[in-house]
Formats: sequence, structure tokens, C-alpha cells
Amino acid sequence: MNTVAPALRGMDDMQLDGKRVIVRVDFNVSAGADGIVDATEDYRIEAALETIHELRQRRCKVLLLTHLGRPGEDDGIVDIAPIHRRLQTLIQEDVRLLPKLYGSQVDAIIQGMEPGEVALFPNVRMDDREMAPNDRFAQELASSADAYINEAFSVSHRDQTSVSVLPKKLPSVAGRRTVLEVATLSSLRNNAKHPYVAITSGAKISTKIGVLEYLLSQVDILCVGGKIANVFLVAQGRWNSAAFSEEEIATAKKLLDDHGAKIVLPVDVVIGNEDGTNKRVIQLDSGDEVSGPVWDIGPKSVQQIVDACAAAQTIVWNGPVGRYEVAEYGEGTRAVAHALAGMQSNRIVGGGDTVTMIESMNLISAYTHVSIGGGAMIEFLEGKSLPGLVPLYGKN
Ligand code: 3PG
Repeated sequence: MNTVAPALRGMDDMQLDGKRVIVRVDFNVSAGADGIVDATEDYRIEAALETIHELRQRRCKVLLLTHLGRPGEDDGIVDIAPIHRRLQTLIQEDVRLLPKLYGSQVDAIIQGMEPGEVALFPNVRMDDREMAPNDRFAQELASSADAYINEAFSVSHRDQTSVSVLPKKLPSVAGRRTVLEVATLSSLRNNAKHPYVAITSGAKISTKIGVLEYLLSQVDILCVGGKIANVFLVAQGRWNSAAFSEEEIATAKKLLDDHGAKIVLPVDVVIGNEDGTNKRVIQLDSGDEVSGPVWDIGPKSVQQIVDACAAAQTIVWNGPVGRYEVAEYGEGTRAVAHALAGMQSNRIVGGGDTVTMIESMNLISAYTHVSIGGGAMIEFLEGKSLPGLVPLYGKN
């Protein structure tokens, strides 16, 4: 018997006109050192604008709900004010800041909103019931609205209340951007043209093993940069570093044994002080004793990546190849970004840091698709079912 996979419901599949709509967005973007989210940092906000504009035209009350930061990490629950300011600049309208996530005060404010008005809830992770699915909290959030839109593909891999439970409490659909992400990444997953090259990086091989194995099962060439390139170099005996555990080195060795012919590793690397001073390029295999932290790939390694990509029909890039936050160590990533921008093949980029770099270089439109997702993009490509998308398939 033939079974037809249920389709993702989109904004044409629901009567939205005049409704109070919670739009779960991912405005998890960092303000610069000046405390301002500027045009080089707002890609995820821009990605939601099409849906926001359409809902305004359809006379909805647009209730934007986002997370920001992670409780207990870095700045924890960070201030939403810079996001609010950037949003107002982008839509050129006042956006109400709701004082709470739910309750009678919020209901009264929403009641008083004009059709087409936009409001922003506080950071949803302020409530500690967000991080794990919580039925009661979902019900409380749902009480202010008539419908729910997922415009947060990039957090859809999280099984968290506003992502996976709230859409079950209201009629729900995927926003325009979420539909675009799913369509583009599905086509990549199912019909990638070969030669297919991926560029990836990361800090810890233990957290990247799933991605590496998935990519190695699909691609013809995998170029590895960032810190995880170093553990491969250590595993090959070409770099000296005490920074990796036996287990990490064994993982890298196994991947090299199984897929060595596909893996392209740096041939030169950049070392120096953490702040970018005393920077120098070291040729691997030069016979010199080389050790210490590696901050970037060198020019020959960049050229290796560019050559592999020039011959490819499909390129996926996820992760800066060096410590791009320090300008001196961003050269490798910038060079790769420039080179890929000038190519004609299907070039898909994802991951917060890579996208930030590309956005700051004003190159977003030079790529075929720049996903707002990092972890979500990879999990989707791996064929995992994303908890935030599951409730959006089939009938409401
Ligand atoms: C991201 O930045 O990748 C998304 O916003 C998800 O955030 P999280 O990793 O904190 O869940």
C-alpha cells in the first residue's frame, strides 16, 4: 500500500485573519559590545519579517515569543530590550513590550491592541518551566491567543514547552520561513548533487560525532576546521597537544580509519597569543616540533577547501574554520566565505557563528540558502524528527 507522508501545514492552510496569533520566533541574537543589535547581527529577526508583515496585513494581533540565552550559562536570561529596539527599527512601527508571559494583565493589553499591532513577550526562558515540556505552562501561554505559528526553525530541535507543547494547545502552522527551511533542507537531504563537499568545525569531537558521521555518510569530501581539526591532527601524530583525552583521540582515529580518504585536514595552521598578538603560520609536516593551541587554518589549508569546493555541485558549510571572534584569527573563515560567495553551485550555510560572519561581511545574498538553524539544520539533515515540527504535520 502506498502511504503519502503528511504535509507540513503552512499559513495558507489556516484562517488567520483578525486572530490573536502567537508567533514563536528565534530572536536569540547577541547585541554587539555597544549593547545594540545592528544590521550585521539581526539575520534571525529579518528571517521572521515576511510572516510578521503578512500577519499585520491580515489584521492579526501579532504576539512574538522568543527565547534569549540559556538559563545558568553565560549571561543567563539576557535583556530583551536590544532585540525590541531592532525589531521596531526593522518593522518601522512601535512594538508593545508585554510585561509578563501570561495572565490577566497581559490579556487586557492584548484585548486593547489594534488589528495589525505587534507585541513582544518577555524572554520565554524566564520561566523555568520552558526548558522541559510542561503542559500547564503551555496552557497558560496558549490562553492569550487563538493560533500559533512556528517561525523558529532554529530552535525546533528542542523539546521545550513553547516549541513542542504549545503548538498542540492551539491551531498551529509553520511560518513562511519555517516552510522555506524545511523545503530547502529536505531537497538537500534527498537530492544533493555530487560532488558534494561539506565544511565543518566545532570545539569538541564528542558533541560533533553524530554530525561528522552523518556528513561522512553523504559527502564526497569533508573539510574539517576549528578545534576538532586539531584532535584529528593529534590522532595522526602530526600535532602535539595535551588538550585532548584518550577517548577523543580514539574517536578521531576511528573516523580516520573508516573514512580517511574523504577527510581533508589542515596542512598549515595559525598559532599565537589568545588575543591575536604574535600570530604566525606553521606548516604541518615541516619537521618542526609543533604544539599549543591552534586558532585558525593557514592559507594553504584555505586553498585546499576552496579547490575542493570549486569542483563541487553541492556545498554545506556549518562552523567557522578558526576563532573568528578575534579578528586576527578570522582570516581563514573570511577567505572561505569570500571564495564560496563567488561560486555557482548549491551552497547552503548554517550555524550561528558562520552566519554571523557571513552577515557581517554582507554576503548573505551571495549564498543559495543561509539557514537560521545550526543544531536544528544538522538534526534535520540527519533525518531526526524535530519536536517543534512534529505537531505541524497533518491535520490541525
Ligand atoms: C540557537 O541559537 O542555536 C537556537 O536559538 C537554540 O538555542 P539553544 O541552543 O540555547 O537551545
